[in-house]
Amino acid sequence: MPRLNNEDWRAAARAALPRFVFDYVDAAADEGLCLQRNRDDLDRVILTPRVLRDVSRLETGIEVFGRRWAQPFGIAPMGLNGLSWPRGDEVLARAAAAHGVPFALSTASNARLEDLRAQAASGIHWMQLYVMHRGLAEGLVERAARAGYEALVLTVDVPVSGNRERDVRNGFRVPFKPTARFLFDVARHPRWAWRMARAGRLDFANLRVEDAPGADSASLQAALLTRAMDRSLTWESLSWLRRLWKGPLLLKGVLHPDDARRALDCGADGLIVSNHGGRQSDASPSAIAALPGVVRAVGGRAPVFMDGGIRRGNDVIRALALGARAVFLGRPLLYGLASAGATGVEAVLSQFEAEMQRSMALLGLENLDDVPGSGLVNDPDLS
Ligand SMILES: Cc1cc2nc3c(=O)[nH]c(=O)nc-3n(C[C@H](O)[C@H](O)[C@H](O)COP(=O)(O)O)c2cc1C
Repeated sequence: MPRLNNEDWRAAARAALPRFVFDYVDAAADEGLCLQRNRDDLDRVILTPRVLRDVSRLETGIEVFGRRWAQPFGIAPMGLNGLSWPRGDEVLARAAAAHGVPFALSTASNARLEDLRAQAASGIHWMQLYVMHRGLAEGLVERAARAGYEALVLTVDVPVSGNRERDVRNGFRVPFKPTARFLFDVARHPRWAWRMARAGRLDFANLRVEDAPGADSASLQAALLTRAMDRSLTWESLSWLRRLWKGPLLLKGVLHPDDARRALDCGADGLIVSNHGGRQSDASPSAIAALPGVVRAVGGRAPVFMDGGIRRGNDVIRALALGARAVFLGRPLLYGLASAGATGVEAVLSQFEAEMQRSMALLGLENLDDVPGSGLVNDPDLS
């Protein structure tokens, strides 16, 4: 059966992956209300088409920090991509480069940041930073600069891990203790098991013991899986990072307009409005609902991006119409990756491209510069 949309890919990923992996990718915090809110609020953004405009040639490209993106979307940072498919980070980064869109590598990647940068050399590379402790973070930032990453994304919505009960029930932790249920789960997915066995050992490749002399590797790896972060990170600490990283610095996970203002005052060059795909606080507003307030607070001083719940081309335009410069795609790409590796990722990115173009034509948009403030959005509460 052809896979035409996110639900098709999600169903294919559910079939392909052992339950503990699918749950890790798919699940959200607590009751999953925030995850659902991301979708519900996007669905409520109604776009009114304009007609009889020349849409014979559509321009989907945008410019961000002096680089041309072929589409107004990129691939969000996601940890443990190598569980969905062997060398998942590389597969995603290569596909992003081929489509002219950025790829953000997670601190919790399975590819080492230097190797990844070398393997998809022509792409637009961003590095996401988790601060578990400052010394470790400094090392990562220096390595990212040396390897040629173009922007640094500090994720600020993980002072502690969200409560993901599906992971807890599945016993998903380091060191991993295989239970009978786990072995049964894996045995029911022999193709996944075979691929993983051939790929060899999987770890958080950026945090090996040589990266943190004196630390013990197992506890570092476990801390990253449970997202045991430096809880004392504050606005004041941001100047420390600002001094270390000379390129564009973005904060990911900002939802409040006052935080947006403060971020810029502290030297951030851009913001990603995000609730981590509903994986952190289940009480958070949806990213799309938080976006207009942040955009107003920023007042054009820096680009504002968003992620969370983007599943169709229309969703991309919805976010742009509410002031986002571009969006990031999360789970849809992992569903594609898990179902069919590079072919799946390629198909999902192509579907987004095709849907975007269709949406633009149907809405009467020749290019994307005119989208914000174009009066496309019906609801005055939103725009
Ligand atoms: C499996 C998975 C792992 C993730 N890992 C990270 C991460 O390491 N760092 C980070 O900043 N965000 C991480 N995120 C959040 C994404 O960057 C993004 O905010 C979210 O997936 C967007 O929502 P969507 O999946 O509904 O599109 C992760 C999300 C998923 C689904």
